Amino acid sequence: MDVYEALYTTRAMRRVKPDPIPLQVQARILDAAIRAPSGGNAQSWRFMLVDAPDVKARLGPLYRECMAMLWDTVYRESLERARQTPDDPASASLLKVTASAQYLADHFESVPLFLMAFGRGDPSGGSIYPAVWSAQLAARAQGVGSALTTVLGIFRQAETLGVLGVPADRGWQLACCVSFGYPTGRWGIAPRRPAHEVAYRNTWGGDLGLQIPEPLWPGGAAAG
Ligand SMILES: Cc1cc2nc3c(=O)[nH]c(=O)nc-3n(C[C@H](O)[C@H](O)[C@H](O)COP(=O)(O)O)c2cc1C
Repeated sequence: MDVYEALYTTRAMRRVKPDPIPLQVQARILDAAIRAPSGGNAQSWRFMLVDAPDVKARLGPLYRECMAMLWDTVYRESLERARQTPDDPASASLLKVTASAQYLADHFESVPLFLMAFGRGDPSGGSIYPAVWSAQLAARAQGVGSALTTVLGIFRQAETLGVLGVPADRGWQLACCVSFGYPTGRWGIAPRRPAHEVAYRNTWGGDLGLQIPEPLWPGGAAAG
């Protein structure tokens, strides 16, 4: 697959079939992940694949508790506003994402594979994410959808480490939990605010000097 196709069409695919992910595909995902950069090339990471029904059965209720907490805290006011103005495009987008995220929570146990990513001793907190995104891109190239989630680590870190048998005294923290599965829907380009609205040149707010009204893949063009 063309690298740009993977970059443009890898997006949160939370509605997936229960079909297992073959081991060769899992190998592709993991081997791509560990090629990623990390601060000082420390590779201070650990990954855990989770596909055992009993482990998923213990994580599912925790995950749903986390989502309930997320809706009730971070998203409470914006969700209330969105529900009052469902026809507003921003509200519609938020309601769509939250419905999709809740779908994943409600179907957690039937997701065939999760990748748990752990880090430690990383002051930037950023060293794990290139690896995670590489895993998601490699999955995309294999026709496997994925969704990066962080709620378990945010709201139920200790309980999740306990379920996964992570030693409590070595400093490992769960950074994120990525779901993987063959999508029920179709791949598409993720809608985003265009680059010229969120990028500057030379000074904050400085004119970028180019406009990118449409995605450059598969065939758009930048305007000067
Ligand atoms: C740091 C980070 C944390 C995220 N946490 C969650 C999460 O806890 N649950 C979830 O369903 N999606 C989570 N996501 C996925 C985002 O909701 C998703 O990437 C965003 O809505 C864009 O989706 P799209 O690429 O399909 O347009 C997270 C993404 C990032 C980058």
